[in-house]
Amino acid sequence: MINNKKILIVGAGGFIGGHLVKRLLRDGNSIIAVDIKSREYWFQEFEDVENHFSTDMKNIENCRKVTKEVDYVFNMACNMGGMGFIENNKAECMQSVLINTNLLIACKDFGVQKYFFSSSACAYNKSMQQEAFIEGLKEEDAYPADPEDGYGWEKLFSERMCRHFMEDYGIEVRIARYHNVYGPFGTYDGGREKAPAALCRKVANAKKNNADKIEIWGDGKQTRSFLYIDDCVEGTLRLFESDYPNPVNIGSDEQVSINQMVDVIEKISGIKKLERIYLLDKPKGVRGRTSNNDLVKKVLNWSYETKLKEGLEKTYDWINSETGKHGSNLSKFTKS
Ligand code: GDD
Repeated sequence: MINNKKILIVGAGGFIGGHLVKRLLRDGNSIIAVDIKSREYWFQEFEDVENHFSTDMKNIENCRKVTKEVDYVFNMACNMGGMGFIENNKAECMQSVLINTNLLIACKDFGVQKYFFSSSACAYNKSMQQEAFIEGLKEEDAYPADPEDGYGWEKLFSERMCRHFMEDYGIEVRIARYHNVYGPFGTYDGGREKAPAALCRKVANAKKNNADKIEIWGDGKQTRSFLYIDDCVEGTLRLFESDYPNPVNIGSDEQVSINQMVDVIEKISGIKKLERIYLLDKPKGVRGRTSNNDLVKKVLNWSYETKLKEGLEKTYDWINSETGKHGSNLSKFTKS
């Protein structure tokens, strides 16, 4: 367990970053939390943390201000979202390269011991994800390089940047390739939401409005695997503490179609089966994606625990109560 360390978490106002602050604080660390978002847009905020709101880490001077005398850095920051965002904002996504680059330079200058980079399954070669049901993606499947345009290229490039900082300057780096992480305190509306949150919101709203239809992007037969946030945080910390320096999948291998996920959410909500309207011109991304977890089991002796149904129950409950509080258009949580 990591404790008694001074830890910088960049992207702390976001979904995974917020959960990571909570856990590392609970474990007895001193936390510096930074995010480009202004205070009201942070998903979670904790007492006894040095918070830096509205701080753009694309700017190296900001990176320098917060990396002094820090033991560890977790870079959870990037301008991202689900398919609806990353397909239409490639230039925005690629600019996150500045966050990682400037942070690494500041870490080198101030002698930070260890650095974590949050990469993505979008780094994997697209040609291996053209069928609905695929073998899980192994870490070596990122090459030859043909990642998701924009966002995926930034992740793959930044992974390599980390590797070279380790080789050339001796900063210990750990890199996770996350597979569609979901759970409470994440974006569920406004354009950046991923499929689990979007579909929970749509089902919850259908129930509230006595609607009998749901809109689904694509034909619903495309597949993904989804990782519950608690498993994501646990896997991240185990990877960080390991001595494994190369990118590792942090994901689930419970591969389901979008239609199957909607079935599960409908059951959780208790609503009768909705008529499905398939929007074929919406962003769809790859046809099939899931994680191969052989390497993570080998190097961390660990695997995720939360089954999709259990994770979606918690996520649905949270989104259902949030939409009840504020109405369905919660752009508060989506502003960058
Ligand atoms: N977002 C969203 N909203 N997706 C929907 C919806 C909807 O209402 N209905 C169906 N889908 C479909 C999308 O068309 C896509 O085929 C699939 O659900 C998954 O979409 P997302 O969850 O938005 O994205 P992703 O799995 O393709 O990629 C996400 O995960 C990656 C890591 O695995 C993104 O968040 C990437 O940024 C991330 O790197």
